Amino acid sequence: MVCTNLDEKYQPTCIDEVVGQPIVKEIMKELINQTTISLPHMLFTGPPGVGKTSVANALAKDLYGKNWEFNFYEFNASDSRGIEFIRSDIKRLTTIVPVGATFQIIFLDEADELTVQAQDALRQLMQKFTETTKFIFACNNPEKITPALKNRLATFEFKPVPDNLIMERLQYICGKEGITYDDGSLEMITQGCHGSPRQALISIARSVNRYNHLVLEYIQNDTIYLDELSTRKMLRDVLSGDVKTAEKQFLDLYSNSGQRYDNMFGIILDEVDRIDIDISLKQAIIETTGIYDARMADPNVTKSVQIKCYLNALAMIGANSGYVKEA
Ligand SMILES: Nc1ncnc2c1ncn2[C@@H]1O[C@H](COP(=O)(O)OP(=O)(O)O)[C@@H](O)[C@H]1O
Ligand SMILES: [Mg+2]
Repeated sequence: MVCTNLDEKYQPTCIDEVVGQPIVKEIMKELINQTTISLPHMLFTGPPGVGKTSVANALAKDLYGKNWEFNFYEFNASDSRGIEFIRSDIKRLTTIVPVGATFQIIFLDEADELTVQAQDALRQLMQKFTETTKFIFACNNPEKITPALKNRLATFEFKPVPDNLIMERLQYICGKEGITYDDGSLEMITQGCHGSPRQALISIARSVNRYNHLVLEYIQNDTIYLDELSTRKMLRDVLSGDVKTAEKQFLDLYSNSGQRYDNMFGIILDEVDRIDIDISLKQAIIETTGIYDARMADPNVTKSVQIKCYLNALAMIGANSGYVKEA
């Protein structure tokens, strides 16, 4: 059996099918059940893989029924993020007449990647076409959304999904797919996914693709040790001056951590705590990590440049302390 896309396949088809997020669900249902339906422009914030994209899609399906695809447009960071994208693609969409509805929805995922100018342009479009186009933004780092834009949005905070609800969902999906599992493996996945149903479904797919079964031992190694080991290797590489290798690893970790710098720096600091190095070297790494953590929160910085600077700063710290990578 091959199941690489369980997470896509089991995207909830209606708000009721979303697990967890009780407050969000309650308000979405109120919005759907109004006699004259209207939506505020919205911002969905929260960690990756907990249902932001799912809720936006489910809302559209519940609101529009069979017409949902004509009235719901979804974009993410792989589409352009700058002013031109807003002035051309998004502007054109706002002039389209909704199908069998008074408004359409434009969903901009990973909105924290939008440039400040793009956010300003969007704000103007939003005001001009507010009756016929509702915007939903989703992001992991809400501090990257300008206050001027954020003030016009109803914010919904998505939370990690409780373990017992993830467990039920996994049991349901394994049942549907005929996936067999070792005792304790679903518990292991649930604990390892930190409240993200997406992460859990990805873990299931990895084990099933390899063994046609959920193998406890494999899952244990796959989910828990992955980040620790690769973070440790990255730290050792960078401290000994191999910035290039470390940069590649940093970017891999960044995408594994759901593209959240606060996750990334958290993982790095955990590892610094455990790694066997001189205390003054530890302190220097912690201090530098803190500085770059704060810089990354600034929406005007170029992240790729900051990552390079961060890794070079670590390399310098390593060189000054005479750090030598053990074999
Ligand atoms: N709250 C949830 N309820 C049910 N399934 C979920 C939930 N959160 C995530 N999933 C599963 O993970 C996949 C990815 O979730 P998604 O909504 O894209 O997360 P986010 O947008 O928060 O990163 C979904 O297609 C679904 O299979
Ligand atoms: Mg998403």
